[in-house]
Amino acid sequence: MAIRAIRGATTAAANTKEEIFASTQEMFLQIINDNNIAVDDIAGIIFTVTPDLTAAFPAAAVRRMSISDIPLLDMAAPDIDNALPMCIRVMVYINTDKGNSELVHAYLRGASVLRPDIGRRGKISVAIDGPAGAGKSSVAKRAAARLGYIYIDTGAMYRTVGVYGIENGIDPVNERGRLVSELDNIHIDISYENGVQRMYLNGADVTERIRENDASMAASAVAAIPEVRERLVNMQRGMAKKGGVIMDGRDIGTTVLPDAELKIYLTASVENRAVRRYREYLENGVECDFNEIKEDVITRDYNDMHRAVSPLRQAEDAVLVDTSDMDFEQSAETVIDMIRKAEVNG
Ligand code: DC
Repeated sequence: MAIRAIRGATTAAANTKEEIFASTQEMFLQIINDNNIAVDDIAGIIFTVTPDLTAAFPAAAVRRMSISDIPLLDMAAPDIDNALPMCIRVMVYINTDKGNSELVHAYLRGASVLRPDIGRRGKISVAIDGPAGAGKSSVAKRAAARLGYIYIDTGAMYRTVGVYGIENGIDPVNERGRLVSELDNIHIDISYENGVQRMYLNGADVTERIRENDASMAASAVAAIPEVRERLVNMQRGMAKKGGVIMDGRDIGTTVLPDAELKIYLTASVENRAVRRYREYLENGVECDFNEIKEDVITRDYNDMHRAVSPLRQAEDAVLVDTSDMDFEQSAETVIDMIRKAEVNG
């Protein structure tokens, strides 16, 4: 462990307590999240403010976030001609095993111009595709929480349409026409509660229901219907419009977000994916046969890669990440690192 320092800077939109607090807290949270810092690891924090900010102390903004045991100090920045106005700078001292080159600094809002070489420029759109069981959703969820992105699970949308079929007695394989003619009756709403994506079908919460096995099978069948895809793809593009999303699925890099700044094709060997699923079942006390699970993985791969519309394939500009020899933490850190680098280059 060594004491190291992380730099940040931001600007306040106005010389008011609210704006100074909002900018300071945003910068502080980003430093904490980006560097995966526990509050106990912080040794001390020093802020400076330019002379045009007089309405509040930035340290008070951090103090208000239940940070009570850490030494905090506000200082006046020198009054320099043509300096960036209404600027709050910070130095966060932490105890860490990381080297200086591994630390992520935060230059936000108007202060992003100060150090274009370091820090995060702004959020981008990230597409993560790959076969079932490669760990896309857990990795995407972790990366979104760490970096402050919205995670969009597109598989959940196909699952929701699948559940509509089940509940209304429509066989998505043999009664495609019927399902398509009822598409206007299928209203899907998505909300985010504590970072969890909740799915609503015509007002009813189906978040847990869509994870059941019959919903997986139905999702796979409805995902092969072009009219269903067209509708869901339009919804997905709408959701990604503002950027700052990590979207996972099968066709995100190829069809939904062809202009995403970062495309990742996350995969692992059939054997590895089957072992992971097998362990998951065992941990949940579900009896199962390894060979059956492996056959299931092979069948799902085949279906996803060979359907006529938007089959699963790696986009030409996607980066391949094979997690066969990585555990979850390593896979997540690899992807988080790639997103940070893409933000800087993006
Ligand atoms: O990732 P998942 O298991 O929740 O996906 C459910 C089904 O939906 C799966 O069979 C593949 C399909 N799917 C798709 O075709 N396109 C997407 N973008 C996401 C999922």
